[in-house]
Amino acid sequence: MNVVWIFILYHSVLGVRCTTEDNLPNFVLIMVDDLGIGDLGCYGNTTIRTPNIDKLANEGMKLNHHIAASPLCTPSRAAFMTGRYPVRSGMASTGRIGVFIIAAASGGLPTEELTFAKLAKQNGYSTGFIGKWHLGLNCERRDDFCHHPLNHGFDYFYGITMTNLRDCSPQHGTVFCKASEFKLIVPTLVLIILLHFVGLVTVPRMLLQLLALLVTISVIVFALFVFTFPYFNCFLMRNHQIIEQPFAAENLTQKMTNEAINFIQRNRKQPFLLVFSFVQVHTALFASKAFRGKSNHGLYGDAVEEVDWGVGQIINKLDALGISGKTLVYFTSDQGAHLEEISSQGDVYGGSNGIFKGGKSTNWEGGIRVPGLLMWKGVIQEGMQSDEPTSNMDIYPTVVSLAGLKVPSDRVIDGQNLMPLLQGKTKRSEHEFLFHYCNSYLNAVRWHPRESNSVWKAFFFTPNFYPSDSDLCLDTHVCFCMGTYVTIHDPPLLFDLSKDPSEKNPLTPATEPQFYSVLDVIQEAVVNHSRTLSDVPNQLSVNNIIWKPWLQPCCSSLTNLCVCAKDQETATSEKDTELK
Ligand SMILES: *[C@@H]1O[C@H](CO)[C@@H](O)[C@H](O)[C@H]1NC(C)=O
Ligand SMILES: *[C@@H]1O[C@H](CO)[C@@H](O)[C@H](O)[C@H]1NC(C)=O
Ligand SMILES: *[C@@H]1O[C@H](CO)[C@@H](O)[C@H](O)[C@H]1NC(C)=O
Repeated sequence: MNVVWIFILYHSVLGVRCTTEDNLPNFVLIMVDDLGIGDLGCYGNTTIRTPNIDKLANEGMKLNHHIAASPLCTPSRAAFMTGRYPVRSGMASTGRIGVFIIAAASGGLPTEELTFAKLAKQNGYSTGFIGKWHLGLNCERRDDFCHHPLNHGFDYFYGITMTNLRDCSPQHGTVFCKASEFKLIVPTLVLIILLHFVGLVTVPRMLLQLLALLVTISVIVFALFVFTFPYFNCFLMRNHQIIEQPFAAENLTQKMTNEAINFIQRNRKQPFLLVFSFVQVHTALFASKAFRGKSNHGLYGDAVEEVDWGVGQIINKLDALGISGKTLVYFTSDQGAHLEEISSQGDVYGGSNGIFKGGKSTNWEGGIRVPGLLMWKGVIQEGMQSDEPTSNMDIYPTVVSLAGLKVPSDRVIDGQNLMPLLQGKTKRSEHEFLFHYCNSYLNAVRWHPRESNSVWKAFFFTPNFYPSDSDLCLDTHVCFCMGTYVTIHDPPLLFDLSKDPSEKNPLTPATEPQFYSVLDVIQEAVVNHSRTLSDVPNQLSVNNIIWKPWLQPCCSSLTNLCVCAKDQETATSEKDTELK
């Protein structure tokens, strides 16, 4: 805080009236979707060019042991926004599906949650959210916007409330075709009917008619769903208004970057908090013309390099406005790279998790060890690094306290203020334990004992890979958290990440004398942790993730299939706000 004090002193000596707002730093919090830690130059990639992101590392703090609170978008983002494990807000599913996949569903971040934006706003911050939200939209009516960013402390929103999916760009194929079990049901039913007519099986007439009806309905429903997906789920909003439906992927990274820069420009004279949540590098992948075909790693690499360009634009803008010294920039990914993302032509559409095992949807390190870069000129020393366990939930208390506020005391906050670590005042992280959930199931625990360099990690279960000699769940596209999809370990599978970061060799009582004593402490920590949990409404229950026609956002009449012209307004809206 030295800089802040000098600033205050300077102002009082000169007799300048010094409002608290003058001393509050700005925040630019950047999150990329599904970016792997192994995709960045500063984390060891030699073939993807990410000079701008690397600059954040060189001129700030690089966290080498930065952990996402969940290996899936919706829960990870809920934890990021609230500083709390997703189970605390009901944003952790008890079923198979762990994220929202339909815009007209009723689940989302509960209004009672206090995001860092809601708090910062109380202290005069101008707050903006640009990009992917994925934390819900409406509750009961299609215009109540109960889960919308503007209802969670943001003054300005430009982006998508859902996630980008392959289905949003039809030529990219469909996740639903792949994941859906319709593709098995329909041929099975057809086969039964055929067998009946050939005379190999006898099916009662009534049942036969029922089967035929089922086939027809399945085919129609599925075809409708695939066909209407982009129109119903892929739309771009400015504040409460849909401005493009379905959204055009072309130039979207550019458009979002311009929005972010304009937000900074408009708010340069007051403290601001901007969350810039890139829609890339989640599939469907896209890159603007200037980047397409330019990287060494196909469309995926092109998309990463365009994201890097976007980050560069932001850094340049802060420099040009002379506010780099009063702006904390954070860069991360919501979880590890999605290794199962391979196109039907065999193109690799998922990134690299470097030396770490597994990827998105698993709590192997590859699913949750994410980039963590923080730059604040003059406050964070250049070229710092830390191997201490930190979490994406730590941004919450860090931002809240820098914004001059106290973290709420009426609820459990799981993040820890990063400033002592960032300013070199301590070498240790405050996180002794981190709990890793697969949806709502406690999957693993990480323990960094206070007096030791070890980082123990115990798994209570692990996903069953397919093919079994891979680190992938290729049959289901993501790994699931329960039932026949996992193997339970009793005693838990134990690793020491400080010696085995790739989680190759589980320890045994023979190889690790502390085996049982470590597990005992972890078990006790789990008991303590469970005592802090309370029952909350499940935002990802079946009822909260299914399509509810009355919640369907639609910018035109349904007969027009909810199609709206391209976004024409960017320029005008900027001028409007500039005049304010
Ligand atoms: C994308 O940007 C390029 C160059 O800036 C422009 O020529 C093109 O028309 C844009 N495409 C769309 C769909 O806006
Ligand atoms: C760099 O990233 C690409 C794209 O994800 C990946 O194929 C490659 O293996 C990575 N290189 C290293 C050294 O991690
Ligand atoms: C569990 O909680 C008790 C009581 O607060 C405390 O003494 C103990 O150290 C805790 N155990 C662990 C492993 O954190």
